[in-house]
Amino acid sequence: MRVLTMITAAIMAVVSPISCESMKKADAETGKYTIQDVRELQDFLLGKPAGSGLKDKAYDLDGDGKWTAYDLCLMKQTLADAPDTDVLVAYFSRTGNTEKIAEHIISITGADSYVINAAVPYTDADIRYQDDNCRANKEQNDKMVRPEIAEPLESLEKYDVIYLGYPIWWGEEPRIIDTFLESGDLSDKVVIPFCTSGSSGIARSEKNIAELVPIGAQPAGRRFAASASESDVQKWIDGITIPEIKKESVMKISVNGTELRASFADTKAAQELKEKLSSGPVTLELGEYGGFEKVGKLPWTLSRTDEKVSTEAGDIMLYQGNQMTIFYNTNSWSYTRLGVIDEADRAKLPELFGSGDVTVTLSLD
Ligand SMILES: Cc1cc2nc3c(=O)[nH]c(=O)nc-3n(C[C@H](O)[C@H](O)[C@H](O)COP(=O)(O)O)c2cc1C
Repeated sequence: MRVLTMITAAIMAVVSPISCESMKKADAETGKYTIQDVRELQDFLLGKPAGSGLKDKAYDLDGDGKWTAYDLCLMKQTLADAPDTDVLVAYFSRTGNTEKIAEHIISITGADSYVINAAVPYTDADIRYQDDNCRANKEQNDKMVRPEIAEPLESLEKYDVIYLGYPIWWGEEPRIIDTFLESGDLSDKVVIPFCTSGSSGIARSEKNIAELVPIGAQPAGRRFAASASESDVQKWIDGITIPEIKKESVMKISVNGTELRASFADTKAAQELKEKLSSGPVTLELGEYGGFEKVGKLPWTLSRTDEKVSTEAGDIMLYQGNQMTIFYNTNSWSYTRLGVIDEADRAKLPELFGSGDVTVTLSLD
């Protein structure tokens, strides 16, 4: 954002208002702008060559009959005010063809974008496929190769739909796409592949993707020619039905500023607890007991389906119908299961729960 501000300031300093009477009048009320629009208007103001598509753009946001740096500022503002998107376009493109398609998708959907770059960039020699020993060929010949990604995405959590783009290399997705697929949890995401190629289709790569990692849903992807237009992409997107993925609710347990995540058990009591938490967070005082658990009163009584169990660290149990127990060690007794703390968070339990009483806040994610 800072870079964009500096560029805008530079434009303001050097460009006097540019007349663009021939260009479409602004309709900022209905205008939905994307990063691509910002780039196009910025290039126009900087005097860079522009495609013929520009004349249809509603970039006169202040309605003064010209495209100026002020319009660019307004456009940036509308972008900043735009609601957060849950759509991501993630793509790898070595020679720019897939990138063009990705930019069309971003422009049409208003998605966020993430460029999958290799930590060791692919040189021209690396992709000279006529050379049997070039890096790309060697990677494609070995299904286990996972080229490192330069700046891995921190989290995919906010995205529900991911358009995943790549060039076809030897009939398949480049191995760096496999690196990306294996680096996050896609089990509750919709992943829609798209690719460019000289002529090969997308089918083999789609099959590979579907078989590599658990994916919530994978609607049919699409291969584009490098020359595909925005309207070609628009037609494809218009025809996609995005399936709804039912997301499992997660229980968040906040303890002394540390947040633990837990899944609910498949019991009536767990269902009731979920419903109670859907009205808002609940804070409980849990006392130390026996060197293996923290236990405290719930504000409600939940349905008991007690069974004798040997608990493990991370188990969350209902005790006597109206108390909640979180185990940081093992015990055998009769309880009703409420949930279990995620494996990744269990290692934190001894330190968080190891001594004394604790205050925990339960909420839904
Ligand atoms: C190593 C390598 C292998 C390729 N294999 C194929 C192929 O099997 N079939 C095909 O139609 N095109 C193939 N191509 C061409 C690319 O798929 C095509 O140029 C693509 O649009 C490049 O996308 P990009 O500009 O986003 O990198 C290959 C290109 C390279 C570099």
